[in-house]
Amino acid sequence: MQSFISIKEAMKKGHGLVHIRGWCYRARGSNALRFLVIRDSSDIIQCVIEKSLVSEETWSDAQKTDIEASIELSGEIVEDKRAPTGFEIKVKELKLIGESIGWPIQKDQSTELLADMKHLWLRSRYMTSIMKIRSTVFGAIDEYFRRSGFYEYHSPIFQATQAEGGSTLFSVNYFGKPVFLSQTWQLYAEPAIFALEKIYTIAPAFRAEKSKTSRHLTELWMCEMEMAWANFKDIQDHGEALIKYVVKKVLEQNMEELKILNRDIKILEKVRDEPFLRITYTEALEILKSKAGIEIEWGKDLRTIEEDELSKINKHFTIVTEYPKVVKAFYMKEVEGHPEVVNGCDFIAPESYGEIIGGSERESDLEKIKERLVAQGEDPEKYNFYLDTRRYGSVPHGGFGMGVERIISWICHLETIKDAIAFPRTMLRVNP
Ligand code: 4AD
Ligand code: MG
Repeated sequence: MQSFISIKEAMKKGHGLVHIRGWCYRARGSNALRFLVIRDSSDIIQCVIEKSLVSEETWSDAQKTDIEASIELSGEIVEDKRAPTGFEIKVKELKLIGESIGWPIQKDQSTELLADMKHLWLRSRYMTSIMKIRSTVFGAIDEYFRRSGFYEYHSPIFQATQAEGGSTLFSVNYFGKPVFLSQTWQLYAEPAIFALEKIYTIAPAFRAEKSKTSRHLTELWMCEMEMAWANFKDIQDHGEALIKYVVKKVLEQNMEELKILNRDIKILEKVRDEPFLRITYTEALEILKSKAGIEIEWGKDLRTIEEDELSKINKHFTIVTEYPKVVKAFYMKEVEGHPEVVNGCDFIAPESYGEIIGGSERESDLEKIKERLVAQGEDPEKYNFYLDTRRYGSVPHGGFGMGVERIISWICHLETIKDAIAFPRTMLRVNP
């Protein structure tokens, strides 16, 4: 039995006979010689087949090995500076496993076509690199929270109420009654901190966003945390430490992928190493006015263009705090003595990637929550289960949500969030 090793392992070995298997990444040749670049999940390597040195079967299979055909091969690996990854395999035997006739993706194809072909485009070095970084990000989030003493906890996806505004709710016919797909775990997370105190999750969230921007998905993965006995600063500190940890892990584990993506890593190192900027919403308005000439009326939410302007000015993660109450969710805590603002924060990424984290300290005053629900046109009765958290042993607490595709998009410097996930769901696309 031949034992296969990965292309990366073969290159580490660097000499002698190796057995590898994978897919054909590039193919060219003549009547006597065929060059195949083979890829597997670990890397790519150039392989050369000389007709005069191999059996008829091997030569015939090599001739039939077109782009994305799958093969197994054995050969002598040697260093070769001219080869794409510095090594070449002089093939002794090659077996075609699955042919691939007429691979439909050519060079320089439109983004639309690549999106239609996403199931095949996943095999590209570009998508493979992003998916590897995505895997690191998910692992790093788990590690960060578990090391910090958080329990993993799960909330329902079918929910009877809203938490982040009715306009982005997806309604589902639930045995004849309308229910909604989860926009956030929050209302079902808060009850659990009375048992577990510190909890986190990474779960799908759904937003019926009618926006066709490079930042919006309708189905996204959200990392959320909720913490008992936490004040507003604790929430910001965890958000900052989490992002730093994720970036550190990607820099440790994915330098090759970052290179394939042409990512300038200086900004990643800065985010890992330097404290985030923290400013209030009111200060943000002053900065935008003095440095960018943008005037925003106090009380208006920051829009994409303003967040982007702020990110250009600050060139670092900026935590904006103390937003006007009117632009934020009903559960955010009023600032003492300033009922017009809340202890809510948005983490604005550098390089114009917008809001990555949204979080807050939670309002503890039962009557205030009810008032704000009513002001938003909601029936507080429907939220009774949630309001019980304030009736029985309420404690100061808070949490945040981080859009996982948003942070991947920024880490990889993607043009669109649609490449941060294998099969994106947006207003315009549910296929493939
Ligand atoms: O700011 P949001 O709406 O906050 C919440 O849902 C809170 N309940 C979270 C909490 O405190 N537990 O969403 C959190 C993050 C945003 O900062 C953004 O990164 C991401 O989720 N997000 C989206 N990402 C992609 N596409 C969308 N349509 C998104 N909507 C939100
Ligand atoms: Mg938000």
